[in-house]
Amino acid sequence: MTQYVFDNADTRAETRFAALAAFDAASHAVLAAAGVAPGWACWEVGGGDGGIGRWLADQVGAGGSVLVTDIDPHWIPAADRPGLTVRRHDVVTDELPDTTFDLIHARLVLIHLPDRHAVLDRLTAALNPGGRLVLEEFDLRHPPTPRTADPHHVATFDAVHTPLLRALESRGVDATWAGSLPDTFVARGFLDVRVNTTTSLWRGGSEEIQLHRVNAEQLAGPLAAAGVSPRALADFSALLEDPTFTVWSYPMVSVTGTRA
Ligand SMILES: C[S@@+](CC[C@H](N)C(=O)[O-])C[C@H]1O[C@@H](n2cnc3c(N)ncnc32)[C@H](O)[C@@H]1O
Repeated sequence: MTQYVFDNADTRAETRFAALAAFDAASHAVLAAAGVAPGWACWEVGGGDGGIGRWLADQVGAGGSVLVTDIDPHWIPAADRPGLTVRRHDVVTDELPDTTFDLIHARLVLIHLPDRHAVLDRLTAALNPGGRLVLEEFDLRHPPTPRTADPHHVATFDAVHTPLLRALESRGVDATWAGSLPDTFVARGFLDVRVNTTTSLWRGGSEEIQLHRVNAEQLAGPLAAAGVSPRALADFSALLEDPTFTVWSYPMVSVTGTRA
């Protein structure tokens, strides 16, 4: 099985999915602009808790179909809509589904996969001519900036977040992937390439800011190896609960293209 740094077997995955749901409205808008409509066949890759897959199923209706796959789909409730199918599937190594799709969507999946260019080939091959590919990824070249005048807040955040980014990169996450996607789509011959970016302000104590806490907790080993002390981690967690602390989210870059 492909290595994924934030294993869904960890119960903190639930907190991660709840935090990422802060981007759902933006994802829905991008998918609607991509044209998703009744009767379409869709593949939601690395579906997480299945929230986007369920939304897609509502858009395509009983006459369409949505396949939601994940290497660990246990957070996805049993398919509860007509045409919705949930399956365990490794997009790097497993055989492609035996049908092709009008729309393929993956949010925060390929950025984790060292074989992301080969995966992009596979996803392209799984699209019908005229089918839409929508990839959404965090642009890690623009790390979150604390929006605070308190230099202690900035130091406390960066003391964990900077080594966290380094730990992710050393585990195969590509910080430049999101920024390169528009050119990558064009170079691969996708038509009508569109790019949207969504950034919001996260406040201490909010559901979405918990993403930073669970990411740091799941990387506690590599952070300790990089010299991050338990005290620094505790201060970081406390800061994330402080309602006077705000930090910009990672920019979510959404790229849509049409297969020629
Ligand atoms: C950061 S989460 C994002 C979940 C969801 N797409 C979202 O945005 O809320 C990444 C998801 O991709 C899945 N994943 C990681 N590697 C995968 C692979 N090789 N094949 C399929 N899914 C994978 C993980 O299990 C996890 O559910």
